[in-house]
Amino acid sequence: MTIQGLTVALSKGRIMDETLKLMAAAGMPLPEELDSRKLILRSPGGEVDFILAKPVDVPTYVEYGVADVGIAGKDVLVEAGRDLYELLDLGIGKCKMSVAGLPEQQSHYSMPRVASKYPRIATEYFRSRGQQVEVIFLNGSVELAPLIGLAERIVDVVETGRTLRENGLVVQEDIMDISTRVVANRMSFRLKSTAIDEFVGRMRAVVEKGE
Ligand code: PRP
Ligand code: MG
Repeated sequence: MTIQGLTVALSKGRIMDETLKLMAAAGMPLPEELDSRKLILRSPGGEVDFILAKPVDVPTYVEYGVADVGIAGKDVLVEAGRDLYELLDLGIGKCKMSVAGLPEQQSHYSMPRVASKYPRIATEYFRSRGQQVEVIFLNGSVELAPLIGLAERIVDVVETGRTLRENGLVVQEDIMDISTRVVANRMSFRLKSTAIDEFVGRMRAVVEKGE
């Protein structure tokens, strides 16, 4: 088994089930205790360790090398700005990073406020367009901000559009396409190249077959 000795950081939550399905289809050795509350799981043959991390923390685990490989959304990766190798687009967890707000709202402020879970992405987007805004960081339920007057606009991910629709908000601009990526630690990529190549190769074969 050439995958021996790999530590993989998985993003708990939304993309976890689909990630595991792809891994199973790729013939990856998977742990048996996935329904437990354990945070470190080992495959039955002991080849691979899985860390079950909060999605925003996956880039941190991988940059510090405590995980060789990580599975994370492009949104999280861009926001984290960590020094990682991006090796594969898994084609799951597809959504868009967008600017949204109330329809036909005129700005009353010289420095409009933008609420976001993605302050770096939001700041960089408006800076690149030469627009001065004040970015307010929120941890979630960002759609609340325009409804209660905290901010005129939000920057957030839009998947089905349901959250926006049900809160009377509309997309104003799209910033980027998002999907789930495989990333690797730079040192691991050299020292464990056989295992990482094998892992990425198997995953790529499944992704390409599915397309
Ligand atoms: C995410 C995201 C949007 C919504 C997009 O929120 O922040 O609010 O999902 O999905 P939709 O377009 O299909 O409605 P999440 O449910 O993860 O909660 P949070 O924002 O409170 O973290
Ligand atoms: Mg949300």
